[in-house]
Amino acid sequence: MTESESVQETPAWLSALREALDPHSVRRLAALDPKPDWNCLEIGAGSGSTSRWLAERCTSGKVTATDIELGALSDSGYPNLEIVRHDVTTEDFPEASFDLIYARYVFSHLRSRDADLAKVVSWLKPGGWLLLEEPAQFPVESAQDEDYREVSLATLKQYKEQVGTDLTWPRTFPAPLVELGLEEIGLDGDLSLVGAGRPMSLFWGEAIKGWGPIVVAAGGATEEQVEKAAGRMYQKDFWDLGLATMAVWGRRPA
Ligand SMILES: C[S@@+](CC[C@H](N)C(=O)[O-])C[C@H]1O[C@@H](n2cnc3c(N)ncnc32)[C@H](O)[C@@H]1O
Repeated sequence: MTESESVQETPAWLSALREALDPHSVRRLAALDPKPDWNCLEIGAGSGSTSRWLAERCTSGKVTATDIELGALSDSGYPNLEIVRHDVTTEDFPEASFDLIYARYVFSHLRSRDADLAKVVSWLKPGGWLLLEEPAQFPVESAQDEDYREVSLATLKQYKEQVGTDLTWPRTFPAPLVELGLEEIGLDGDLSLVGAGRPMSLFWGEAIKGWGPIVVAAGGATEEQVEKAAGRMYQKDFWDLGLATMAVWGRRPA
């Protein structure tokens, strides 16, 4: 980050995501047992909380935190944490550079995810680990509340059409990493709860509200339905499942 680029306030949806997901991510990262001298890469690091956690573990190594938007990324003075503007779809790192590569809620948004992941695997040192955590829509598909279910699925349809985001892809794990030849594959998942202003509610409520006009214009839901569904996210007596997080990890053959 250049000196002229100041760290902006973290958007509410990104803080909510961090609060909902960091405990699970830290548990999975810790299970890979990062060593002090590891060279780590986090792709699409967002506000950088997990990169900072890695920087505290890899004290004699290095952590590179990348994103295409650096506004919310702060290195908080860690000398071994480098923040780099880097687009994983168009840019590269040298072959066999990293002991650990981590990304959360990034590759499901990328239309070129298969080719991008193949490139990312080439950046791993032999024996290096890749850990992905991605949001999956399957719990929302069976949600009991009709407004919440229909508006959420209509929002995801627009996400897919307009951005390329595919939240059915993480349900195919671990296949993408198996197909790339990684070994010691692991698979894990977490459910989330929405309602009563829980962190995942805040994240998804913002998404529903933000995409509402596009969803309504496309005929996916009425304005009233969007308002009701967004309201459910803050409603004290509303309980349902939100997006799941699917995690997959594997190791480049030594
Ligand atoms: C949903 S956010 C997740 C942020 C963070 N990983 C987290 O879980 O809190 C997706 C992040 O990926 C970044 N991103 C999107 N496309 C990218 C690309 N092509 N290369 C690198 N980062 C990208 C976005 O700017 C954003 O910070």
